Amino acid sequence: MSRIYEALQKAESERKLERRDADPQDYEQPGSSEPVATAVAEAEYEVAARAPFVGTEAVAEPYAPQPVVRPAAGGRLDLSKIVARPWALSVAKLPSLQERGGAVEQFRSLRSRIFELRDISPLKTILVSSGLPQEGKSFVSTNLALSLARHKNSKVLLIDGDMRRYTLHQILGCESQPGLADYLSGKASAVEVMQRAEPSEDVSAVGKHALPNLTFIAGGNGGDKAADLSGSPRFGELLRQAAPYFDWIIVDSSPVLPVSDAVNLARSCDGVLLVARAGITKFPVAQRAQSELKAANILGFVLNAVEETPQVGGYYGYDSNK
Ligand SMILES: Nc1ncnc2c1ncn2[C@@H]1O[C@H](COP(=O)(O)OP(=O)(O)OP(=O)(O)O)[C@@H](O)[C@H]1O
Ligand SMILES: [Mg+2]
Repeated sequence: MSRIYEALQKAESERKLERRDADPQDYEQPGSSEPVATAVAEAEYEVAARAPFVGTEAVAEPYAPQPVVRPAAGGRLDLSKIVARPWALSVAKLPSLQERGGAVEQFRSLRSRIFELRDISPLKTILVSSGLPQEGKSFVSTNLALSLARHKNSKVLLIDGDMRRYTLHQILGCESQPGLADYLSGKASAVEVMQRAEPSEDVSAVGKHALPNLTFIAGGNGGDKAADLSGSPRFGELLRQAAPYFDWIIVDSSPVLPVSDAVNLARSCDGVLLVARAGITKFPVAQRAQSELKAANILGFVLNAVEETPQVGGYYGYDSNK
């Protein structure tokens, strides 16, 4: 049995609370947000058997930057027109901006697992979702995007695909509009909704290295139209147009059980990462989330907010003396 299932089942039995189904009105709110680890587990048991659970930089990452193929004239994006804006980044929300630490290691581990999956089949566009709200989709999407952007100058496009409760702009400390909703409704072009961080002395050395590689599309304001917009063929067009310019495209999304937006967006993505929150996500909720996305290529689960951090910094208890 994979670790995600063990962890979820353990949480389920420990809580001994009245079991409630995953009704959108009926989900539990998580408690306080401790600085915690994020671990990767997998839906595919074969993958679990092949790969180590925790990665460090010492683990060889089978990564080679993909060749950048420019699209034919007409579909071309002029990325030099992307506006640079001030971003107010906080390490509390973005632990992957740190030089080292448990969270950095866990996102590096997640990144390694994604590289391994890409060796098995083509993978560039990854949707991040979960069963219910507040399980950590936006936290995982943003930190994963930064973790990828700090690796060998990979170019990363991060899209806030949750047009109802868009929050990635808050995590990055920037404007939310124009955004994806404006593009999907035809009010703005792809380049017009993209933004980058203005160079700043206030970010860490890691930020100075990673941020120039990160392009962001905020949520915009989908309002009541979010469901219709998420089904628009323009989303697939956006990904196709952007793909040649980026090594990775990470799409945050809304939870799959209350609303169908994420299922719509997943149709245009290469794979889906599901997030489960340790001690919060109930086992049947994780199962139902997985089954809602059965038409998609589910890459696995990220077990988020694990309080017990695996030993960091060494193998077999042998730590570096830094
Ligand atoms: N691993 C973590 N460590 C600390 N705080 C976390 C962690 N994961 C999530 N949080 C915090 O929990 C809250 C909910 O996380 P987040 O917004 O990422 O969830 P979500 O699944 O995107 O929610 P929604 O469905 O409402 O969009 C946020 O305040 C976030 O900072
Ligand atoms: Mg969110």
